[in-house]
Amino acid sequence: MQIFHHITSLRQELTSLRQQGKRVGFVPTMGNLHNAHLALVKQAQEHADVVVASIFVNRLQFGLNEDWDKYPRTLEADIEKLRSVGCDYLFCPDEQEIYPNGMDTQTRVIVPTMANILCGASRPGHFEGVTTVVAKLFNIVQPDMAIFGLKDYQQLAIIRRMAQDLCMPVEIIEGEIVRESDGLAMSSRNGYLSPDERPRVNCLYRSLKQIAERVQNGERNFPALESDAKRQIEAAGFRPDYVTISNSKTLEPAAHDDGQITVLGAMYTQSARLIDNVSLRLDDER
Ligand code: PAJ
Repeated sequence: MQIFHHITSLRQELTSLRQQGKRVGFVPTMGNLHNAHLALVKQAQEHADVVVASIFVNRLQFGLNEDWDKYPRTLEADIEKLRSVGCDYLFCPDEQEIYPNGMDTQTRVIVPTMANILCGASRPGHFEGVTTVVAKLFNIVQPDMAIFGLKDYQQLAIIRRMAQDLCMPVEIIEGEIVRESDGLAMSSRNGYLSPDERPRVNCLYRSLKQIAERVQNGERNFPALESDAKRQIEAAGFRPDYVTISNSKTLEPAAHDDGQITVLGAMYTQSARLIDNVSLRLDDER
């Protein structure tokens, strides 16, 4: 695997590959890689001739009181993991390379409305930071396809919308949620959990899955179902942020006759904010 820290040298390499007719796949990450990230690399390999991964802990998407400082940085181990799955290129720039003019005056990419609900309501500016850096990374790598995990469902929906609205010539592909054996979605932030919290945090997934099953079985009192899930999260000792039954495309509250529904939730533990979601289809388009 070749490692690049600078835009110019990465571009040079990728331009020559593109001239050879190679299809470039891209997997953006913030590092501290786990099996879910590696699954995205493997999936990208099925869609592209060469795969570029990036590692950049993007300060622009962290709130002032969030965990940018303590976000785990494990570059050496990450490089080994990427090598083990045969990733071709790693782009790991520093902040100066990505934001040479500083972050305050950086041109921003904003996806209105969708970025302000759910996680966007609790983390103002977060998705603006995500779309801005992903747009920059797309311009740097110029991939034919890029892959994002369904675990960050709202992020994926917003990036899809950005690519569509700005006519970006990148195919956006989604990767299934990879979970621990007890159902907890893998996340770099799981490392913040205390041994006392860890066995209980799968309440988030269990409560979302239960709602999805009840909707699938015909229940339509969405507010009551959402309250039930929040109660389950509280009973396990955590503070729910939101639980919503949403239209899978718009992320607006689901209508009773919507065919594609996603149940999304977020909760706070002592040291981490965890998110998860479960999708279900009520139409016959499977
Ligand atoms: P990061 O949290 O490192 O995630 C990188 C990619 O891995 C994202 O597409 C995310 O959805 C996916 N991912 C993480 N855990 C997953 C899981 N358990 N199952 C499936 N996919 C999973 O998301 C980001 O970084 C950043 O916001 C980024 C897009 C890189 C922009 O800075």
